[in-house]
Amino acid sequence: MNPASLKGRSLLTWIDYTPEEIRYFVDLSKKVKEEAKKGVRKQRFVGKTLALLFEKRSTRTRCAFETAFGEEGGHPVFLSNQDIQLGAKESIEDTARVLGRMFDAIEFRGFKQEYVEILAKYSGVPVYNGLTDMYHPTQALADVLTIEENFGNCKGRKLVFVGDGRNNVARSLMVISSKLGMHFTIVSPKELWPDNELRNLCETFARESGSVLSITDSVEEGVKGADAIYTDVWVSMGEEALKAERVRLLTPYQVNAELMAKTGNPNTIFLHCLPAVKGEEVTFDVIEGPQSKVFDQAENRKHTIKAIMLATLP
Ligand code: CP
Ligand code: NVA
Repeated sequence: MNPASLKGRSLLTWIDYTPEEIRYFVDLSKKVKEEAKKGVRKQRFVGKTLALLFEKRSTRTRCAFETAFGEEGGHPVFLSNQDIQLGAKESIEDTARVLGRMFDAIEFRGFKQEYVEILAKYSGVPVYNGLTDMYHPTQALADVLTIEENFGNCKGRKLVFVGDGRNNVARSLMVISSKLGMHFTIVSPKELWPDNELRNLCETFARESGSVLSITDSVEEGVKGADAIYTDVWVSMGEEALKAERVRLLTPYQVNAELMAKTGNPNTIFLHCLPAVKGEEVTFDVIEGPQSKVFDQAENRKHTIKAIMLATLP
């Protein structure tokens, strides 16, 4: 894999990248983190500009992009949908073309995956998906880094996502795991299983990489032997009206000490993309306990996002 082939590319979903390319991003993230720990501050984004478009709120993603870009000399500009026209008074295509004339790259967080696709198609600059209803690829890279910090190469390890199995985080983890050869299980009520289209696509990646994918509604069956148990909020941004239904469906899937013990593995780690609702998808003792790596994960958002920009910015 020639790293030069990554220049100018957008990251909309990991589906678009080969396992070798994803491996390059993981390894570069490790280097970026080592540099940060040594206090090395290179100025690799000097003179560059980055537009940060947010239709939905964010702490980690926004701060990771802003600090990673800014500390290397770049100029990030935050634009919420209170600030600019995003499909309201101006088409996304036009916004894309205007921003592409002024910025070297664009990050977008919002609802429709179609919007990041249009931004990428019309802006002519790299576009990074900072979360849509369908995918959260920058999160998944930070999660792989965190898993590898604990276990070495993720190939052959078992990651289990417990909760809303059709959400953006679960879907992105299924894609990246199947590409990298990590075994991946979703434990979720049937009503919240991901669609067959994505599952079938990931099965084709898994056949190549040696990953085993499974989806089950049985906690006992799914969590057995897990190296990492991962959960996310029961109600994603934009789905607030579904709260009562989700609590009903997902209460039996809460990650608590009893569920962690069912892995049968004393070394299982606990992961969560955050923000968390303690007492819903995870109990206080698990997220605050020794198995929890959630703040390493949060920190790793910054290193991985810097690596993504270093690799793709021309
Ligand atoms: N995990 C994550 O994306 O966090 P934010 O919503 O705070 O960006
Ligand atoms: N699934 C969550 C992830 C937040 C980082 C959401 O979309 O709200």
